[in-house]
Amino acid sequence: MKRILITGAFGQIGTELTAALCERHGGDAVVATGRHLPQDAASGDGPGAVERLDVIDAAAVADVVHRYEIGAIYHLAAILSARGERDPETTWQINMGGLRNVLNAARQISGCRVFWPSSIAAFGPETPRECTPQDTVMRPTTMYGISKVAGELLGDYYFHHYGVDVRGIRYPGVISSGSPPGGGTTDYAVDMFYAALTKGGYTAFVREDCVLPMVYMPDCIAASLKLMDADLPALSHHNGYNIASMSFSAGELAEEIKKHVPGFVCEYAPDERQSIADSWPRSIDDAIARRDWGWQPQYDLAGMTVHMLNELRRRQEAGSL
Ligand code: SER
Repeated sequence: MKRILITGAFGQIGTELTAALCERHGGDAVVATGRHLPQDAASGDGPGAVERLDVIDAAAVADVVHRYEIGAIYHLAAILSARGERDPETTWQINMGGLRNVLNAARQISGCRVFWPSSIAAFGPETPRECTPQDTVMRPTTMYGISKVAGELLGDYYFHHYGVDVRGIRYPGVISSGSPPGGGTTDYAVDMFYAALTKGGYTAFVREDCVLPMVYMPDCIAASLKLMDADLPALSHHNGYNIASMSFSAGELAEEIKKHVPGFVCEYAPDERQSIADSWPRSIDDAIARRDWGWQPQYDLAGMTVHMLNELRRRQEAGSL
């Protein structure tokens, strides 16, 4: 049986993508890996196999891919933007070295496909910031962003030279109620929800008028699966499809939360992450993704906020927040 491998399976996106893939294909078809495994990693009706895997270990990556007869890899393991600036060397090693190891392992298995997310961080200060086109000036200024541009090009290289079907999306900031994000610049949007319910107040590390593109997790997962379902000839791009869902300022998010959490107070104390945010687009043109593989988000700011608060309140009542 061909199985699906997920790296970074216990991170913010990996946790929910793993659950979605288990639901779709059955747990036995899914191999979830991470550099660190949570205590309950192998519990319940989740993935059939759970393994510790450091993606910078090329032999270990190749071993897992061969041992489980992997037919598709969702390679999510990476260091995000803010943490990446604190340790650019390790970020390059993990983000680029990991991707290269995954692509090389996939190359050894006939028909093995790869999903690898890029990010709005692939853009830079010289990129048009409003309605950022699919194909435009890149030139990011963070190590994370550099690894994303290089990764997009590397994925295209493996597609054209070795026939590896590598596909990817430039994720906006991802908002979710499950596993929290860590080390990213867009984390404030998630943190604000948690703080509203647990503390009644939050100090954002960006300005009130800081606008960034965001997507809600159910749409993020749906996009990833939909791109992988698309017929290859329909794809005009392979790596780095722009997707847009919603764009709002930190202040607009706080106002939206306040509608449902009366008394919520948000303050703003921008730190070094503001300059990262300032180098990214404010809104994205995703016409090519809509045309090529039918991308269509379901959530806007209002719908996402209601759903997020309901999910987090449910967790709060169950004592897991
Ligand atoms: N969410 C990521 C970050 O903030 C961007 O892809 O680093």
